[in-house]
Amino acid sequence: MKLWGGRFSGQTEKLLERFNNSLSFDSRLWREDLKGSIAHAKMLTSCGILTPNEGEKLVLALEEIATELNEGLLEFDYALEDIHTQIEVWLIEKLGDLGKKLHTARSRNDQVATDLRLYLKGSLKNLAHLVEDLIATLALLAKEHSTTVLPGYTHLQRAQPIVYGHQLLAYAEMFFRDLDRLQETYIRTDVLPLGAGALAGVTYPLDQAYTQKLLGFGALCQNSLDAVSDRDFVLDYLYTCSVIMLHLSRLAEELVIYSSLEFGFIELADGYSTGSSIMPQKKNPDVPELIRGKTGRVCGDLQAMLMTLKGLPLSYNKDLQEDKEAVFDAGDNTTLCLEIITPLLKTMKVNQDRMLKAAQSGFLNATDLADALVQKGVPFREAHRMVGEIVKLGLKNNQEITEIPLVKLQAISPLVDKAMLESLDLVSCVNRRITLGATAVTEVRKQTEEINLRLNEAMKFWQKEGSL
Ligand code: ARG
Repeated sequence: MKLWGGRFSGQTEKLLERFNNSLSFDSRLWREDLKGSIAHAKMLTSCGILTPNEGEKLVLALEEIATELNEGLLEFDYALEDIHTQIEVWLIEKLGDLGKKLHTARSRNDQVATDLRLYLKGSLKNLAHLVEDLIATLALLAKEHSTTVLPGYTHLQRAQPIVYGHQLLAYAEMFFRDLDRLQETYIRTDVLPLGAGALAGVTYPLDQAYTQKLLGFGALCQNSLDAVSDRDFVLDYLYTCSVIMLHLSRLAEELVIYSSLEFGFIELADGYSTGSSIMPQKKNPDVPELIRGKTGRVCGDLQAMLMTLKGLPLSYNKDLQEDKEAVFDAGDNTTLCLEIITPLLKTMKVNQDRMLKAAQSGFLNATDLADALVQKGVPFREAHRMVGEIVKLGLKNNQEITEIPLVKLQAISPLVDKAMLESLDLVSCVNRRITLGATAVTEVRKQTEEINLRLNEAMKFWQKEGSL
């Protein structure tokens, strides 16, 4: 069965049916489609467009379809065009001609936009809770590693000593921004298009505010042409997923590097590692690698949708059907990556000795020596040059700054003394950095405590939006 055909004399080509078909992927929207239809039927009834008896029968039949789908009692007929057709077919099977009345004052164009918005609202909530779990885990680990010293890098070259907790908190900041983006995306998605009809509105006196209330939308679309053709909320969703994935990919890349034998900073748990079919000794970080890899496809989904929307005239065009696979692909992969990263972090082993050892070589305290000379009145640029010469000497003799004999240091700068050298130990270097968000242990501890309050604050919005 088709939802159209009266004006045609010729048969639809089989190839076109396959080409046009979206049921293979939009069947996933059955819950949202039924929910929207139930609200539509109730609203039509309250407006007197359907009799109370008709309305009640339609709602009951739609609820029955939901139950049967939940229990696996109904099978999709993939020859049908889309989810809207499929549900109407089931409805007509149950109710006969009455089933044909549900589509009064509605088009698949406002219907599909409603379905997708409902679906995305659920997905955004779920993503927000997964990001929340991740931030909470990062905070927990940061607390545990508030004194674990390792090299901080720029250009992937050892730069200054930091604590691992500080590094983990940097990721927490990224994911806080993602929580913001999820919330903003949600607000723009939370707008109901139903009532726009095909494009121009409908000729029935609908109570759109009632449908809005039944479906729990925050607002109504203000222009019917825009209502059926707007997919900005899809772009927002795909962008938000892309940025989450970018953040995960940066974390993942570090985990890959840190778990190499060369670094040896961390070891992933066996449960989250894989082996090689030929090399018996291998333990591979497939999980972070796949996260890194999947980032490409999620960003690709965003790019695909941007290109689909470019130059699209008003109002609904079939091009828009392409939105769903991008949304499902990006959403599924982002969800999966968030689901796996949290337990992976919780179970990994942090090798504190290796981290400390790495921080002990490479002149990571050089900036601190320059700062100490500045304290004695040397202009910073001059101090920088002197310490540069000290480093050159150290490199030549394979010695760290504190291993170079004092007389040799004093030949470069007479102001260097024993106390100054004693202040160059890594823990002192770390704890001298007390600016906001810096690496000092006290600062890191303070931040880990504040994170939970910030997280509770950020999650208030989602609690208000109800359960999943
Ligand atoms: N499968 C379509 C989509 O995803 C549903 C809307 C079809 N509308 C139409 N006028 N053919 O966009």
